[in-house]
Amino acid sequence: TRIYVPRETSAVSLGADDIAAAIAATAKSHEQNVEIIRNGSHGACWLEPLIEVDCAGERIAYGPVTLADIDSLFAAGMLTGGAHPLRHGPVANIPYIRRQERWTLQRVGVTDPLSLDDYRAHNGFTGLAQAFAIGPAAIVAAVTAAGLRGRGGAGFPTGIKWNTVAAAEADQKYIACNADEGDSGTFSDRMLMEGDPFALIEGMLIAGFAVGASRGYVYLRSEYPLAREIFSSALSIAREHGWLGLNIGGRGFDFDIELHIGGGSYVCGEETAMLDSLEGKAGIVRFKPPLPALEGLFGKPTVVNNVITLATVPNILARGPEQYAALGVNRSRGTLAFQLAGNIRRGGVVEVPFGLTLRELIDDFGGGTASGRPIRAVQVGGPLGAYLPESQLDVALDYEAFSAIDALIGHGGIVVFDDTVDMAAQARFAMEFCAIESCGKCTPCRIGSVRGVEVIDRIVANKNREANLTLLTDLCDTMVDGSLCAMGGMTPFPVRSALKHFSEDFTAASSPQS
Ligand code: NAI
Ligand code: SF4
Repeated sequence: TRIYVPRETSAVSLGADDIAAAIAATAKSHEQNVEIIRNGSHGACWLEPLIEVDCAGERIAYGPVTLADIDSLFAAGMLTGGAHPLRHGPVANIPYIRRQERWTLQRVGVTDPLSLDDYRAHNGFTGLAQAFAIGPAAIVAAVTAAGLRGRGGAGFPTGIKWNTVAAAEADQKYIACNADEGDSGTFSDRMLMEGDPFALIEGMLIAGFAVGASRGYVYLRSEYPLAREIFSSALSIAREHGWLGLNIGGRGFDFDIELHIGGGSYVCGEETAMLDSLEGKAGIVRFKPPLPALEGLFGKPTVVNNVITLATVPNILARGPEQYAALGVNRSRGTLAFQLAGNIRRGGVVEVPFGLTLRELIDDFGGGTASGRPIRAVQVGGPLGAYLPESQLDVALDYEAFSAIDALIGHGGIVVFDDTVDMAAQARFAMEFCAIESCGKCTPCRIGSVRGVEVIDRIVANKNREANLTLLTDLCDTMVDGSLCAMGGMTPFPVRSALKHFSEDFTAASSPQS
């Protein structure tokens, strides 16, 4: 009997390794034959560790499983799909999973992440074959026609970026994958790299072939040791089987990928700081222009894309750009792997087309707050994203609709807060975070963030309140207008939104409701 036990950070942190060992030992003592497959996570983190038993081709799910449940699971006949309080029936029928549109995460949780056979059996390398068949110009045209935009946060059209790099004349070009994933409440890059690493490799191969690059780098945050281990293994396996190296696919196309571990700073996720860090320097933001697309890594034309952007491309070529473009709304085409975090009952990754509302995601998928208390604020798009009050939860998830309310979809991280949150403390945290993570290159961010913390402290302490509120508004304007990158330029967004929607928290008398 095949049993799937995720080897993915959230499942492992909840004991999945010990559970896999206990299942093997218990099966042995019962003289039952089991094959344990360490898959990725289906993304329903609230059910982890979610184990699955292959019953005549149907995968029956049990979760969340603890070591204490193993004996009762065996006694209940788990190996033949027996009834048990933790049984959820076929994994594909769990509503949280069934109701998603798995385009980018199509194989995550489903396959053995390090099996090339499994990868191929599930649509793997179909996109690359199509890429080789249609050639570089048609690949860029397909990515453009799909309407794919950068999933790291800025939402810049991927096809236009690739076109710039493809058109640049140079003896060497690079693909740099940003896997620094520093936003609060985000983990989709990690889940993809742990659960389907060959998809990222295939996406980078296609990007390299399309723009004429022979070398790729993945800049992975140091806080992801398991992703590092799994992705390193995937690189070795791909190399052994001729999917990286010289003359890939017999097409005379040479491409290899190096994994680089990040410097551990939030700003290293800013593309130019990331490039400096990749070059072995401190991660400090560069002036733009020149754009990395023209003068990027080591001064050469470079495609800088996020993990999810690159991993989405193979399926766009395999299934056709029009199918991808048919999903979503307005200029936000396709799907996004949203991440539900914070005070939420059913946290995890939910890949759906753009256009759903935040409320649908939080209520229908997330099941509301974990505490059971009312939602007071939701931060979308990481620490630089605005705090939305309950009244804005019906805004559609669409890049432009969010910017129209001074908010940000970013990398799709959604962090929920209940009515005990102190929004002045959250605003202070935004400034403090910027003060800690600032690269120090420009004054509005380096000094402004420190002053921002002090001004918020004075407002909350009721010292010269009106004058300090005016000062905070001026300071936010200066940071937005005068900062070199998004770190200083967007820190005011959470601050302003907290002031606008939750002004009652900015008084000495205010204390979180209980
Ligand atoms: P940006 O708007 O300056 O640039 C977006 C991308 O398009 C860049 O790669 C840029 O080089 C490229 N680009 C712009 N014009 C181009 C052209 N004509 N040809 C080719 N390429 C072109 O945004 P930026 O500063 O790179 O990113 C800011 C965003 O990063 C924020 O919106 C935020 O959501 C996100 N972010 C994401 C984090 C994460 O953990 N994923 C962390 C922090 C911020
Ligand atoms: Fe560095 Fe901040 Fe200026 Fe960005 S805004 S360049 S992080 S000092």
